Amino acid sequence: MVDLLLGLQWGDEGKGKIVDVFTKNYNIISRFQGGPNAGHTLIFDGNKNVLHTIPSGIFHKTATNVVGNGVVIDPVIFKKEIDNLADYNINFKTKLLISRKAHIILPTHRLLDAASETLKGKAKIGSTLKGIGPTYMDKTGRNGIRIGDLELDDWKERYNTLTKKHLKLLDFYGVDIEYNLKELEEEFFNAIELLKTLTFIDSEEFFNQALRNNKSILAEGAQGSLLDIDFGTYPFVTSSNTTAAGACTGLGVAPNKIGEVFGIFKAYTTRVGSGPFPTELFDQDGETMSRVGNEFGATTGRPRRCGWLDLVALKYSVQINGVTQLIMMKADVLSGFDTLKACTSYDYKGEEIQHLPYNIEEDNVTPVYTEFKGWKKDLTGLNNKADLPENLLNYIKYIEEFVEVPVKIVSVGPDRKQTINL
Ligand code: GDP
Ligand code: IMO
Ligand code: MG
Repeated sequence: MVDLLLGLQWGDEGKGKIVDVFTKNYNIISRFQGGPNAGHTLIFDGNKNVLHTIPSGIFHKTATNVVGNGVVIDPVIFKKEIDNLADYNINFKTKLLISRKAHIILPTHRLLDAASETLKGKAKIGSTLKGIGPTYMDKTGRNGIRIGDLELDDWKERYNTLTKKHLKLLDFYGVDIEYNLKELEEEFFNAIELLKTLTFIDSEEFFNQALRNNKSILAEGAQGSLLDIDFGTYPFVTSSNTTAAGACTGLGVAPNKIGEVFGIFKAYTTRVGSGPFPTELFDQDGETMSRVGNEFGATTGRPRRCGWLDLVALKYSVQINGVTQLIMMKADVLSGFDTLKACTSYDYKGEEIQHLPYNIEEDNVTPVYTEFKGWKKDLTGLNNKADLPENLLNYIKYIEEFVEVPVKIVSVGPDRKQTINL
């Protein structure tokens, strides 16, 4: 079976940490969408690693890691990731396989991303500027260059043709983006050489063969459901399907092969970049979450916006993904609040609603909150459900009843070990 682990909010829920914890139960760990806009943090044995393209199972000897066809790869960032892991003595040739159908982010894709954002001005998406949007545009526009193309003779000609087109587009945008293409290309082609030393596979064949051999696969989502290109807070979203269906197209596995769908969420909410965020806080409480939770983007270092848990949005994500088990992260960050709040409906233009409306704007959606008693206990050293404060268990019980899915794990710190089964 293929199990999925998906972020249910606006990303950074702690997917990397939990995939690492789960890897011992799986033969294969695979990314199926997104690219180096993702930043997945793993902390164990006193070391911290942030992965952008490489699946979070890479530190375990037993699992094979696969970058699926739905992913977009920046060779330069990919090379840096591999270089950063030099101390771990990982055999990347056998432990990290790459789909021939994954698309390549070119240097000019990043420039186009920057130009597009500059042109949007105040209305910018707040992109990570990794070239994600322009690369997926070339994929769906049928112009993209794929990993498998690197094995063909004419790929450099195709690179030149596409780059030329991008430079024309850049001119067309008419905004001032500073760049040195020669330097960018040198770095790019150098990284391509490293990429070519890895193993490229027909990944859909690989996965289906693995399934026939009763191997277990965990698909690691990137971003979160509210950043999904179809179901997120469009246009403030990313350019891929981050939700469950994206795993089928991003790996080449059929829907009837999907087993568990693990939905992961923070005990509160964060968002990095622009776009609507009904429960966002601008007060002391928000600052406390930001400080205690150390809420800075793992990819860009930007401060993450913080707010209370939005159960209306969570229920929406649970529904879109068919979540079967929930995982609650960063419960420790809420220790110390006298009162917690969770949004349980929206006041939408004067009417109380319990679903995500088509158009969420600051002046048409006001969250309606339910309050909960907080807990003072430090959770970071706890290992057992029995030690958890009653008020935390009440908070969890309310969430389970609201979204109608059980919470199976609660995370009480960033380390692999700070993970409690319920
Ligand atoms: P991802 O993109 O979903 O993998 O999440 P990120 O790595 O971008 O962000 C999650 C952040 O929270 C990282 O800095 C993690 O080390 C940290 N983290 C994960 N789980 C917990 C937790 O339970 N408590 C605390 N305090 N930090 C956590
Ligand atoms: P992980 O996998 C949080 C956000 C950006 C921006 C929007 C579009 O670590 O959870 P893009 O670079 O895709 O053009 O940006 O999406 N974004 C993320 N926010 N976590 C991520 O990934 C994100 N990847 C993209 O901030 O608002
Ligand atoms: Mg992240």
